[in-house]
Amino acid sequence: MKEFTTKSFSDTQFAVERDVVCIQGLGFVGAAMAAAVSAACAADGQPRFNVVGVELNTPTGRVRADRLDAGHFPFACPDPKISHAIETAHIAGNLRATTDVAAFRNAKIAVVDVHLDVGLDASGRPSASINGFERAIRILGQELSPGALVMVETTVPPGTCAHVAAPALADELRRRGLPADAILLAHSYERVMPGPNYFDSIVNFWRVYAGHTLEAADACAQFLNAVVNTKQYPLRRLGSTTASETAKVLENSYRAVNIAFIEEWARFAEATDVDLFEVIDAIRDRPTHANIRQPGFGVGGYCLTKDPLFAAAGSQQFLNSGALDFPFCEAAMAINRRMPVVNLDRIEALLGGLAGKSVILLGIAYRSEVDDTRYGPAEIFYREAERRGARLLCHDPHVRHWSELGMQIPAELPDPSGADAVVLAVPHRAYRQLDLQAWLGSSRPLVYDADSVLDATTRARLRAAGFAVESTGRGMGL
Ligand SMILES: NC(=O)c1ccc[n+]([C@@H]2O[C@H](COP(=O)([O-])OP(=O)(O)OC[C@H]3O[C@@H](n4cnc5c(N)ncnc54)[C@H](O)[C@@H]3O)[C@@H](O)[C@H]2O)c1
Repeated sequence: MKEFTTKSFSDTQFAVERDVVCIQGLGFVGAAMAAAVSAACAADGQPRFNVVGVELNTPTGRVRADRLDAGHFPFACPDPKISHAIETAHIAGNLRATTDVAAFRNAKIAVVDVHLDVGLDASGRPSASINGFERAIRILGQELSPGALVMVETTVPPGTCAHVAAPALADELRRRGLPADAILLAHSYERVMPGPNYFDSIVNFWRVYAGHTLEAADACAQFLNAVVNTKQYPLRRLGSTTASETAKVLENSYRAVNIAFIEEWARFAEATDVDLFEVIDAIRDRPTHANIRQPGFGVGGYCLTKDPLFAAAGSQQFLNSGALDFPFCEAAMAINRRMPVVNLDRIEALLGGLAGKSVILLGIAYRSEVDDTRYGPAEIFYREAERRGARLLCHDPHVRHWSELGMQIPAELPDPSGADAVVLAVPHRAYRQLDLQAWLGSSRPLVYDADSVLDATTRARLRAAGFAVESTGRGMGL
């Protein structure tokens, strides 16, 4: 057998012949999807697929491919099921990773998990950066064999599969002298949730999908039935890829708006001595309102900070529906982005100013139990606090390097002596279980709970020990 490197790839890398699934893009979604697909079993209990993760030949792409190819998940992962799936597949020999696009040639299925960003154009309207995505699709059109299925999981502006992916595939196939419809195209979006239930959020969860053609929809369903526990979590087929793309964008926009909606009520509660968490718990008893969100430190991560812009982008860029307005989405994005600054405003008021003050920020990941800091509220908070003259010490049990700030994050909690405030920004388990009093010793900084990290008993105990404890979404002293 030829020696394997991530530079070249051929199917002789697999000792046992099986259907090959390529995962294009090994980020937080693609790497987890590679774990899930490689764990799928055939009727005899043996692996159902040979899986190849394919990355860009960039420094980051090579690191991600090399790590996965060596049997490791490329990111910190609190879900042992992900590491177990990858280790098992590594030992069984049905999971590889490479930067060589030749890997696509023998694939029966290519799952697209590349990123797709959105920004604002010169006139301030949302505009998706489609070029990288289209390049990725064109590579599939150049490499895949006729009859293969492309399943797009990337979150895209509605209309992208029909108006960008299908024409790009057809164009590349025509250049090869093949029929324009020789490759099947489907869309099925991820609802993956990095964190403790990472693996199950793919395998044991509901899926929406649609095909560009009936044949593609059927092939997509067949693939998903092999990977997802569809007996318990039945698939839902939609009428078009644009409908499936819309479902993803709408479900994340709904969540972003729901979070933003609570912001004004958090301010109301803080100003009127109400504990909004108590109020929300009461409202959640009503099944129709169980999904109401709660106040917090801010919204981050790669999805909720961009997906509400995709409907506006798609309607303008691909669907020729003109400049439709999405005022709720726009307002939600603006409110959510300001949330960490609103938290900072309150801390500044409580401290009587920020200039020269020392603030310890506990939690910089965008949500609990992950190491992902992309588009996180901590970055906005940090930069604004520093601009106002505060000195910050940061900690996060899951983050060792804060790439957005170019900063190493020590594993140990900082020395609290001289701190004016400790801000609990992320409800990591480590912070919920932390004995704050023991760590803070004789220091008595303001303890500010920005994301409901401390329960009522802990808050009362800290107050009894002489701490001022305040929270986002609660009136003073509650
Ligand atoms: N992160 C989440 O929790 C989450 C959840 C659901 C859906 N999504 C969506 O899934 C998609 C991927 O998200 P992510 O967080 O994994 O992004 P990511 O940026 O972490 O990963 C994308 C990867 O794709 C690679 N890539 C780009 N072009 C490529 C190409 N032509 N060939 C091979 N690799 C290529 C990049 O190098 C990168 O490693 C996005 O559309 C996102 O909105 C993300």
